[in-house]
Amino acid sequence: MATPQENLLDWLRDAHAMEQQAEKMLKAQSERLEHYPQLKARIDQHIEETLGQQQLIDQCLARLGGSSSTLKDMGGKLMAFGQAVGGSLMSDEVIKGAMAGYVFENMEIASYTALIAAAKEAGDSETLAACEKILPQEIAMAEWLLEHLPELTQAFLRRSADPDKAAKR
Ligand SMILES: [Fe+2]
Repeated sequence: MATPQENLLDWLRDAHAMEQQAEKMLKAQSERLEHYPQLKARIDQHIEETLGQQQLIDQCLARLGGSSSTLKDMGGKLMAFGQAVGGSLMSDEVIKGAMAGYVFENMEIASYTALIAAAKEAGDSETLAACEKILPQEIAMAEWLLEHLPELTQAFLRRSADPDKAAKR
């Protein structure tokens, strides 16, 4: 058995690992993008948000007495996902990256939704406040990616059809 507080602490560690993975993926994507400045700018904005999220989770972990240096559990599982996205050899890298980013953001949305319910159950108002601050940033990023996927796809297709232009990133 485990108390709500113990489960909450475990999930905060998972969230910390998830945000480290998010930072890696986003930075890899931003560094490689050349021809899609709007996407790059939005990713750079979310990198800043992600660093702030890491600090919030760190503060929760420190307050609850847990270490924040675990990349072992969920982090390990997410690693494969991140590697599939970063440093891509795919000719449609920008599109696959945007799709993977959308999937990743939705996993973050689910994680913080569960964390918010767990923080309520555990009576941890500070963790609740932190997660309620983070969740809208993930929702906004997911929505932006989905909303911009059609025009990003159109831009990719036009560059791809032009012999004088590089399209993949
Ligand atoms: Fe995040």
